[in-house]
Amino acid sequence: MAFLNEHYLKLKAGYLFPEISRRVAAFCQQYPEAAKQLIRCGIGDVTEPLPRACVQALQQAAEELGHRETFHGYGPEQGYEFLRQAIAQHDYRARGLEIADDEIFVSDGSKCDCANILDIFGAQNRIAVMDPVYPVYVDTNVMAGHTGPADDTGAFSGLLYLPCTAENGFVPAVPAEPADLIYLCYPNNPTGAVATRAQLEAWVHYARQHQAVILYDAAYEAYIADPTLPHSIFEIPGARDCAIEFRSFSKNGGFTGTRCAFTVVPKSLTAATPDGRRLPLHGLWQRRMTTKFNGVSYPVQRAAAALYSSEGKAQARALIDHYMGNAQVLRRGAEAAGLKVFGGLNAPYLWVQTPPGISSWQAFDHLLNRAHVVITPGSGFGRQGEGYFRISAFNSRANVEEVARRLVELRWS
Ligand code: MLT
Repeated sequence: MAFLNEHYLKLKAGYLFPEISRRVAAFCQQYPEAAKQLIRCGIGDVTEPLPRACVQALQQAAEELGHRETFHGYGPEQGYEFLRQAIAQHDYRARGLEIADDEIFVSDGSKCDCANILDIFGAQNRIAVMDPVYPVYVDTNVMAGHTGPADDTGAFSGLLYLPCTAENGFVPAVPAEPADLIYLCYPNNPTGAVATRAQLEAWVHYARQHQAVILYDAAYEAYIADPTLPHSIFEIPGARDCAIEFRSFSKNGGFTGTRCAFTVVPKSLTAATPDGRRLPLHGLWQRRMTTKFNGVSYPVQRAAAALYSSEGKAQARALIDHYMGNAQVLRRGAEAAGLKVFGGLNAPYLWVQTPPGISSWQAFDHLLNRAHVVITPGSGFGRQGEGYFRISAFNSRANVEEVARRLVELRWS
């Protein structure tokens, strides 16, 4: 008899975005005419075409694959040297951060890496997550059996939730109690909040004090506009001994469909064995990648490397400026509609307070049915997300201008 993984049965009804898709599909089926005006600002999926430098690199790499002399079969599981070197050089060493090429592991996405990283950690770790939180951090720990069941509010026992509220600027202080693995995400999905250097220093200090590991998701670092804000956890002294960083080409290069990302595991980072020794995690992640992954395709890695050319950098910058321009349009629209808005200044997400007496899912349904706009209900990201909704700035300019107009016109009662 085969048994299933019963931890999956603890998960809430569905992953947030499929649940939104289900409701939107039902709406479109019921109101096909209104569906034609639908504007999607829910999932943070890019809308603009790939930078030309990436397209050209893809075409050239495809051509190489068509000739015996330049053909590529299996590549290195951790990524081709040309891409690991470009990442380490441009994203780290050029900014004064000592990251070696072989500390970069290229993958097909940060979502997968945030999930897969649990393979190299013990089941006894106490996990800390922000609330609201990118659901992948929580759900993958549930699947791995690192939590108990969820309560009525959807909070899982065994997890240490760090409330992110308007009062703390959606950046929680370090907790009084110890945790072993801490997920941090800045610029934050979903709140759009960013952490200052002093706030990250406090986390690095905490992690070192408790011999904990910070899992730092910096997928949106390219959206940081304020020059005083850190882009990488490795800008904080001591982080090489207590942090892993996840980065992605999805949101800066428009690679959500193309798929390429990377994870930085410093060789100086260690974790404990049950008998009290400390061993490096780098070798474990390398072992995991070489056993369970066959690498990102050659053309895609060539396309990612093209983002580091001077044309690629300028084209990626233009993409980010476009989405950040959208964020400003949405901010102004939501504020003109009398809504309280957070985020959207160093991140492509706006975190909007629902009008009094309206829950997150009520706001979702109201915006869908009355304004024909899809947003993400804050409660889908955790208990503290109730009373908020997230608007994604990933869209065309014409669409966000229309969303801003509809927000201003919308009546909530
Ligand atoms: C989101 O909308 O939160 C993002 O698209 C999630 C992701 O990048 O996986």
